[in-house]
Amino acid sequence: MQLSDKIKHTIRDVHDYPKPGIIFKDITPVLSDPVLMHEIAGQLKQDFQGQKLDAIAAVEARGFIFGSILAHELGCRFIPIRKAGKLPYKVRRKEYDLEYGTACIEVHEDAIQSGWRVLVQDDLLATGGTAGAAAALIESFGATVAGFSFIINLSFLPGYSLLKERFGVDPHFLTEY
Ligand code: PRP
Repeated sequence: MQLSDKIKHTIRDVHDYPKPGIIFKDITPVLSDPVLMHEIAGQLKQDFQGQKLDAIAAVEARGFIFGSILAHELGCRFIPIRKAGKLPYKVRRKEYDLEYGTACIEVHEDAIQSGWRVLVQDDLLATGGTAGAAAALIESFGATVAGFSFIINLSFLPGYSLLKERFGVDPHFLTEY
């Protein structure tokens, strides 16, 4: 079976979460499958090794899981982007629209340097609000958004085209609905 199908077969659909009418894509069964996680890590490494990347950035919480794995696989630094109020040092912040409301993310002022090429990794691309806000933060330091990587793309939502149009790169993903 292709990796894309393996991921799809493992993800659990949770109906009416976090609100009625929404089918939530629960990745926790993927996380509890070490063979599948090993394959995901290997695929991400294969897809991004050889690219000139200075850092992998990811937004908590689920983004941290796959962002850390990719940073480790590539031997690259990891930049945590956190929800407001979580980082201890001086921060730069960005507010954004979420599929289910609004949110604000922050990154440390000294986390990114001008001229760096930074890849944004997350578990899922929906509206593109989260990844777009992370990318806007990265650009605000004078760094370049080298790309976006997701495990899942919800292709019936506008995230993919929004990121492609705004940042000029084709978002990468392992499976889509
Ligand atoms: C989810 C997911 C992505 C984002 C995708 O995170 O992990 O980060 O939403 O949606 P978007 O493309 O519409 O922005 P969430 O904000 O629910 O936080 P969590 O990882 O802490 O659950």
